[in-house]
Amino acid sequence: MIAPTRPKAKVVNAAQPVKRPPRPERTIIAAPEGEKGQGTEEEDNKTRSGVTPPFAALRDGRWGRFFPFGSTCLRASPQSLPICYNPAMSPFLSIRRSLLHWYDRNGRQMPWRVRRPGRADPYHVLVSEAMLQQTQVATVIDYFNRFIAAFPTVEHLAAASEQEVLRLWQGLGYYRRAKHLHRAAQRIVTEHGGQVPRDVNALLDLPGVGRYTAGAIASIAYDVRAPILDGNVARVLARCFGIEEPVDAPATRKQFWQLAEELTAPSRPGDFNQAMMDLGAMVCTPRRPSCVTCPLARYCRAKATDRVDELPRTLPRRAPRTVTHHILAIERGGRYLVQQRPASGLWANLWQLPTAEEVPIDGLTAWAAEQLGLQLGELQPLDRFTHQTTHRTIRFELWRTSVAGGRLKRGAGEWRALDDMYDLPLGNPQVRAIEQLQAKRSHPKRSPSPAPT
Ligand code: ADE
Repeated sequence: MIAPTRPKAKVVNAAQPVKRPPRPERTIIAAPEGEKGQGTEEEDNKTRSGVTPPFAALRDGRWGRFFPFGSTCLRASPQSLPICYNPAMSPFLSIRRSLLHWYDRNGRQMPWRVRRPGRADPYHVLVSEAMLQQTQVATVIDYFNRFIAAFPTVEHLAAASEQEVLRLWQGLGYYRRAKHLHRAAQRIVTEHGGQVPRDVNALLDLPGVGRYTAGAIASIAYDVRAPILDGNVARVLARCFGIEEPVDAPATRKQFWQLAEELTAPSRPGDFNQAMMDLGAMVCTPRRPSCVTCPLARYCRAKATDRVDELPRTLPRRAPRTVTHHILAIERGGRYLVQQRPASGLWANLWQLPTAEEVPIDGLTAWAAEQLGLQLGELQPLDRFTHQTTHRTIRFELWRTSVAGGRLKRGAGEWRALDDMYDLPLGNPQVRAIEQLQAKRSHPKRSPSPAPT
């Protein structure tokens, strides 16, 4: 048998200049060792090329020039700088790989997350994404588990009453999300045969589902390549690509979406999006980010130019307006008056002790007469605390009083024992007011406690 001949190794004299083969006309950045195998360049090349870059930092090549090339990176001749903006040829591929590699080892465990090769339950993803709008993961986990125990399928949720749903949402805040989720479940049952849609446009058609939530559901539940963009993701993008434009300016929002879309991994987009969420929440945090543990540090333009603390930029904010709301705990025969809030606005449809919003203290008696038909006894101050909303700081003042005359107007509320109030869906400030009433039942003359923030 003839042994296969090996090609002869070319002996190069180290002292002589080596004639290099011509370099390619593009910059190639190789993924670090051990991070291969997530998404292929071929897949990327299929997706797009020659796209107009969304930001000046990408357009004029500044990102490329500052790119910290390491020993694992091949690059073209210096004349080829700046890197042409072409997501199929740029370091996007390496960024995706590094991020997914990091996520596989560091991604957070959550009850709605399922590790590959398992598949997340689309209904669980829908519920978790509704809860995670405006709320931190740590807060959501218990609510999610209770919610799924009460409504294990989309059909159970669709068949529940709104009050039951609100009751399970109590304390999470932003109650409109619960109502939207409830109506979305009903639409999924009637219009989609009980299947959470996988199509982004069908998802966007559901109540309470915006572009972020649609992208998150489609990608996490079905591995559809759909981008997500929220504050965390925008921060990662702004730092990594050195974007100077304010992340919250409506004009740049579209550009951030374009960049997020181009960067989203074609393979494992759900994991990629969750990796971006986790990176923004745990590593690339607003203050004191942990660049030493960041899988994107080697690509990060903010880090390379020592501007991590300056990015992302935001528009100057208007200070939130401060308003005062007076909560009236009106007692009659050991019970207190409670009423349901209007169907729109803050804490819509939730229950409350009658609350005079932006009414001066000396107008409270007249307010109660007009709104409730009741004359009030002496007003005893019980508690004072603040509640922060996006645009307002609300100072709540809690007063205990009794009925001195008049007749309760029809539809103005009903009388309930304090201990029975928790059967009703209540907003957080009302829960606090009722807890204070219970605590001070036997100490009616104490002065208000200092305002917590
Ligand atoms: N924030 C919003 N959706 C999230 C998710 N699926 N995982 C972690 N944080 C999130």
